[in-house]
Amino acid sequence: MCGIVAYIGKKEAFPIVMKGLQRLEYRGYDSAGVAILNGDLNVYKKKGKVKDLLQFAKDKKVNGSLGMGHTRWATHGKPNDVNAHPQQSGDGRLALIHNGIIENYASIKEALIKIGHTFESETDTEVLVHLIDEVQRQDNLPIEEAVRVALTKVIGAYAIVVIDKKDPNKIVAARKGSPLVIGLGEDEFFMASDATPLIEYTQKVVYLNDEEIAVVNRSGDLQIKTIDNKIQSPFIEELNLKLERFEKGDFDSFMLKEIYEQPKTIADCMRGRMSAAEGWVKVGGIEASYERIINARRFIIAACGTSWHAGLIAEYLFEELARISVEVEYASELRYRNPIIDENDVIIALSQSGETADTLAALELAKNKKALIYGVVNVVGSSIARMTDSGSYIHAGPEIGVASTKAFTGQVTLLTLMAIHLGYAKGTIPRSYYLQLLDELENIPKKVEKILEKNSHIKYIAQEIKDATNALYLGRGYNFPVALEGALKLKEISYIHAEGYPAAEMKHGPIALIDENMPVIVIATNKSAYEKIASNVQEVKARKGKIIAIVNEGDQEIRKIADYCIEIPYTDEPLTPLLSVIPLQLLSYHIAIMRDCNVDQPRNLAKSVTVE
Ligand code: M6R
Repeated sequence: MCGIVAYIGKKEAFPIVMKGLQRLEYRGYDSAGVAILNGDLNVYKKKGKVKDLLQFAKDKKVNGSLGMGHTRWATHGKPNDVNAHPQQSGDGRLALIHNGIIENYASIKEALIKIGHTFESETDTEVLVHLIDEVQRQDNLPIEEAVRVALTKVIGAYAIVVIDKKDPNKIVAARKGSPLVIGLGEDEFFMASDATPLIEYTQKVVYLNDEEIAVVNRSGDLQIKTIDNKIQSPFIEELNLKLERFEKGDFDSFMLKEIYEQPKTIADCMRGRMSAAEGWVKVGGIEASYERIINARRFIIAACGTSWHAGLIAEYLFEELARISVEVEYASELRYRNPIIDENDVIIALSQSGETADTLAALELAKNKKALIYGVVNVVGSSIARMTDSGSYIHAGPEIGVASTKAFTGQVTLLTLMAIHLGYAKGTIPRSYYLQLLDELENIPKKVEKILEKNSHIKYIAQEIKDATNALYLGRGYNFPVALEGALKLKEISYIHAEGYPAAEMKHGPIALIDENMPVIVIATNKSAYEKIASNVQEVKARKGKIIAIVNEGDQEIRKIADYCIEIPYTDEPLTPLLSVIPLQLLSYHIAIMRDCNVDQPRNLAKSVTVE
């Protein structure tokens, strides 16, 4: 949801900022802009991707050692050159980039217009920079103080970076609700929406907290204050991130790279948390709040999108293995209800980015109601990770493709470990089954590898169905959420309309859609409901639907009815989502590529949704 990069130091800022924007492009890619201060304040903005901005700025004046850039995901105002950031004050003296939404911008704008301000763009961001300018002029304030005072007047979410032509040795930044990290180099500072643009220069960072303002200057000073003017001591953290994890390597896209990384990322998620040979599993986050978790009245899982699908799988896992009552909520709905939550509840937030605004807001609400807050997060140091009482990282490494793949299997792996840990501790699963599950879990990475070897067969099936305009995904039990996830993957990267359904629900409505043009992707690996799923497949066949079935190796019955089968290795039913989702990811990937879609940056989407 918009990417922010800034630099001040001795090097040329433009290449650092542009490279940083390219690394952050997954956050938004409808327009981009850059400001370089070198006596003049040169601002260049362009609708389109960062490469379009690079082309546009090719012959322009871009030298200078202080600069900032922005890649946008439009909220207020359509994507065009004028609405792109940086936005500037009326006299062009201040430039500001922003990630978030200023909710009361309309009333501020009205007041500013009354005193003579005029606006060029439709953005809330332009209103904010005019407000800072107005505050600064009225009381002749230094830029950091003008930013602080102006922010006391706004409602909403923001990460902002501001530069002032008249104060050429400093950059001011602030955050509330949207992330901002400061990188500390040798006589230089970097700022960015996340650490990805910084790690090739420094591993030392400070994560800005909500309602904090930071000022960095050329003399090497970093000062942090709260919006109510209290000095804070910066907490410097050392990252341990390797650059190659942010690059595509030999793959054509991040999405394909991330799909292929799954044998490793699933293993990384389990590492140090279990041993099948020694018969133990231990999830640190559970240990840290053991009493409250083991005695919880219920778990409430709050998440969005793919993470919500992982949450639905967790509902089956926790109920079956640990006999814990679970509710799975869309964070965006939970935050605006008046849910009955108290100190006996555990709220589990699932989030790859750890920055999703709706999930953060749902957590705030549950925290105020005294529930224990548990985070299952990928991005280390993210806002959700920092606000929870307890939690676990999934250790999937950077996920850059907008369509989530390895984070999903990481979340499901971690939730499976939690359910087995709790089930065994509560005595709701016998030791023999506990050991069997651990053994099976340890074999999952190898089985995922085996599925990845079927890539060309899956590509062949993709070719057969790539021109469909609709698709139906069916699954039962643990595989119902996988059907939802398969449909979401297809929708978001290939723009084919797709729906996921519990297989038995098909006859209550969606069956009306089935004809010879409708691919129906059925996940039929459940041992417990195999006959029932086989009947559902027959019902589709009777209406001439094109059946693509995900079956276990050696399947005999469904193979006879389906048009195409993708075989996956057998595993215990609670673990099947970790395998059955893989062919669905590859199928969507190939269909999208065949339809000439950009799989890493699908239209209208952004990786990290930091606004409502
Ligand atoms: O970072 P989060 O896991 O909180 O993100 C939640 C959703 O925005 C995300 O899963 C989204 O649905 C993905 N594009 C799915 O591929």
